[in-house]
Amino acid sequence: MKTRITELFGIEHPIIQGGMHYVGFAELAAAVSNAGGLGIITGLTQKTPELLAKEIAKCREMTDKPFGVNLTFLPTFATPPYPEYIQAIIEGGVKAIETAGRNPEKYLPQMKAAGIKVIHKCTSVRHSLKAEAIGCDAVSVDGFECGGHPGEDDVPNFILLPRAAEELKIPFVASGGMADGRSLVAALALGADGMNMGTRFIATQEAPVHQNVKDAIVAASELDTRLVMRPLRNTERVLRNAAVDRLIAKEKALGAAIKFEDIIDEVAGVYPKIMTQGEMEAGAWSCGMVAGLIHDVPTVKELIDRIMAEAEQIIRQRLAGMVA
Ligand SMILES: Cc1cc2nc3c(=O)[nH]c(=O)nc-3n(C[C@H](O)[C@H](O)[C@H](O)COP(=O)(O)O)c2cc1C
Repeated sequence: MKTRITELFGIEHPIIQGGMHYVGFAELAAAVSNAGGLGIITGLTQKTPELLAKEIAKCREMTDKPFGVNLTFLPTFATPPYPEYIQAIIEGGVKAIETAGRNPEKYLPQMKAAGIKVIHKCTSVRHSLKAEAIGCDAVSVDGFECGGHPGEDDVPNFILLPRAAEELKIPFVASGGMADGRSLVAALALGADGMNMGTRFIATQEAPVHQNVKDAIVAASELDTRLVMRPLRNTERVLRNAAVDRLIAKEKALGAAIKFEDIIDEVAGVYPKIMTQGEMEAGAWSCGMVAGLIHDVPTVKELIDRIMAEAEQIIRQRLAGMVA
């Protein structure tokens, strides 16, 4: 399949693996790239730019295909040393960066001067247009269904993607709720040039996370995620568990007066406990509604081959048959 996204990143299939905290290590990124997609290392999971440089070198040992790095611009006071992280990415010879969170404008000249293609993750048409205006090469349009931070507008992909297609000139991928060949064909029909998946890639053999996490995703239905931190305007879609129930009870009790400190036990330092130790009740962790469509734990190659075969079959048989 050839789209503007496969052309932009020099990849075989229009499938990107979104950055995921404590999931996007070299093992997963390399597996996705080796299977013909674009694997992404999560930059800030590496605690220093030096550690990121090592993770990039490790990934380079595992694949000779293109891969990228995610840089999430956080709304925090203790800002990570982003220019040094970007320098590590440049020196590692990586040619794709997935930016997310706050506006990456300040850092774009450094990336562009090194010939890096930038895909910015956005949850609204407004932000997508801004990304286009500041010179991003593509956007990843993340609908309300997505695992992680869906923004505050709550527009699902059936509306958000065609709205993005109406307004954008640069290519975009559909993100949030994508799982299989049906998702890919639907995304293309709605105007995207590919798709980005998060949750689906966690339930794969190569994802370097505890088996309990994979089992929890397979066991979950589309009804099992919750939105937390809306009162803090930092909404996150997470898998429901005891900690999430506690967090929601605090949000109800404290209302608009709630502060980050009130929920620190449920959200801070949670990822290593969940992803590495498999302590599934340790806190709130991102997971998409798409868990309802995930029923197995294949290898990344099996997953991507299956998606592409299913997409082709839908296009050539089901859809072509309807207009014949
Ligand atoms: C466990 C987990 C951690 C994530 N961490 C990040 C992150 O650090 N930075 C980021 O930009 N997106 C992060 N995301 C969002 C994904 O990159 C992707 O946009 C999202 O998962 C797409 O929705 P889906 O889960 O329905 O496929 C995370 C998602 C999950 C499930």
